[in-house]
Amino acid sequence: MTSYQFPSDFAWGAATAAYQIEGAVTEADRKPSVWDTFSATPGRTLNGDTGAIACDHYHRYKDDVQLMADLGIRHYRFSIAWTRILPDGRGTVNEAGVDFYRRLVDCLLEHGITPHATLFHWDSPQALEDLYGSWRSREMAKDFADYATAVVSRLGDRITHWMTINEIHCFTHIGYGVNQVPPHAPGTVVNRLKDVWQTSHHALLAHGMACQAIRAASPVPCSVALVDNFVPTVPIAESPQHIAAAQQAFHVHTTNGGIIEPALTGAYSTALLDQLGEDAPEIQEGDLKIIHQPLDAFGFNNYFAVYVRAIDQAPGYQFLEFPISYPKLHMPWLFFTPDSTYWGIRHISETLGQPDLPIYITENGCAVEDVLTANNEVIDTDRILFLRHYLRSAHRAIQEGYPLKGYFVWSLLDNFEWAWGYDRRFGINYVDYATQQRLPKASAHWYAECIRQNRVV
Ligand code: FCB
Repeated sequence: MTSYQFPSDFAWGAATAAYQIEGAVTEADRKPSVWDTFSATPGRTLNGDTGAIACDHYHRYKDDVQLMADLGIRHYRFSIAWTRILPDGRGTVNEAGVDFYRRLVDCLLEHGITPHATLFHWDSPQALEDLYGSWRSREMAKDFADYATAVVSRLGDRITHWMTINEIHCFTHIGYGVNQVPPHAPGTVVNRLKDVWQTSHHALLAHGMACQAIRAASPVPCSVALVDNFVPTVPIAESPQHIAAAQQAFHVHTTNGGIIEPALTGAYSTALLDQLGEDAPEIQEGDLKIIHQPLDAFGFNNYFAVYVRAIDQAPGYQFLEFPISYPKLHMPWLFFTPDSTYWGIRHISETLGQPDLPIYITENGCAVEDVLTANNEVIDTDRILFLRHYLRSAHRAIQEGYPLKGYFVWSLLDNFEWAWGYDRRFGINYVDYATQQRLPKASAHWYAECIRQNRVV
């Protein structure tokens, strides 16, 4: 019998992102990001939803911090909107924009909640998209590093946990690569796969240069992390053959070998580069050194995995399709794969050879079809089932000695779920968008109890 007890210093948190919750998109001289433009373009988001108001968190941050404090949440991951700090993406710093985050962070600290700030969660300045096509240009890396300096030199006295970039795959490969439904901003499809890989390469450079900028600008020692949603490969059974197959397959699944791998090891996967051939990005001399900065932590956004088995023919592994009736939450991609937590952590340590790199689950959660009952309750036992099993898998990783240090549930609030607008609810707190009232769901009470007992309940 295990009681799923976590170490006494385990960090229990909740996560959000600026464009998904803040609203107030023109306040204090903020200018548009690509998500303002994209969501205002007819046909781009479900029901034409935009983040113009979202959860109105910009005006209600005090209530939202109180809500966290009431649930016992001690760590909060949020993101800073580039265009509040630098409305044109570069140039003069907008101090009024910085002040919002000063107020927010001070409020968190007063409530004993540690701030973890992500510098970029997809809201590229529209001005830089217009100027040079944002991530299509190497210029973007330099501008991002300057933005990092502007933020950290002003807020580094009160924020010591920094995350550079959230999920490079999404805003590059799904932003420029495919006209998928629903797509991601900016929704500009480039001509060649090579050009798509170039956008993620530029984002990696931006990450590396920002790491240097953060360390140079911070007035006190701080922690610097990258946040990524690499896809864990889960062996169909834990036998030596299937485990070896899952490790081999890890490098070539989607962008694993071209994003997390160069960031953590300083080299793109050779197996991936072989597969890409002429589609591989152009890598200039010195780039990999910039990209491969020492990290204090790694943020793993954990939602789903892919199953792999060993086979007799080359290449020795096979990716397995999900069968039709495989359990899924309320997103087309959100397969219930709790083993992804354990295997994701183990792959970072073992497959990528980083056994000492502290890991945080920086996002984990699910959309379900929440229903508000006549008694004004949301009884989301489906979400509790999901979270409980992923947390048990996290516990297994810790028990086996892997360095998992904390967990942030996605999300604190229902919010603007990108191209799905307000149609998909990921919060542990329900948001009534007409009144902006927040209501803790059953999962919020369950999560509070996990935190209180420091174990999976
Ligand atoms: C992640 C994003 C986050 C949210 C969740 C559901 O990919 O980082 O903003 O949309 O998915």
